[in-house]
Amino acid sequence: MAVQFIETEHTQEIDLFRRELEDLKEGRGMLMQALHLAQNRFGHIPVPIQEIISKTLKVPMSTVYGVITFYTRFTLEPKGQCEVSICMGTACYIQGAAEILQELESALGIKSGETTEDGLFTITTTRCVGACGLAPVVTVNGEVHGRMDLKKMRALITELKESYKEGDEA
Ligand code: FES
Repeated sequence: MAVQFIETEHTQEIDLFRRELEDLKEGRGMLMQALHLAQNRFGHIPVPIQEIISKTLKVPMSTVYGVITFYTRFTLEPKGQCEVSICMGTACYIQGAAEILQELESALGIKSGETTEDGLFTITTTRCVGACGLAPVVTVNGEVHGRMDLKKMRALITELKESYKEGDEA
């Protein structure tokens, strides 16, 4: 789902962000710092913000885009309230992470990297999260769920759908 970033709805935040960028202009490693600032301030780094970074720091748009897409901590679109992430590191992969990812994608009707239209769920994949003894591992907003299988994944999805939908109505 492509989420449109409307600049006129974020004018104050953009002004603040421009001032923060001005302070960075002379520093080293400024592109990474700028991207962290943008990700924290806007929750993602949409094209208009990439353009501000590119112009202010005099870095080509292709470089800005390349760095954003290289690091999983940066996102082009906002994430859902609940980020479900499948570890695709070696230990998890050989224990069936790919099948678990397929199950999750089909249950939520989105692919990895996408967010459901109601803004509740985002699916991502990660590399080793340091819990290989519990492989295959799924994290939900950073909380580790180990030794997953298809049955446990289905139960977890049902539980998450119930709790997040209830929270949405509250
Ligand atoms: S490979 Fe998945 S936790 Fe290490």
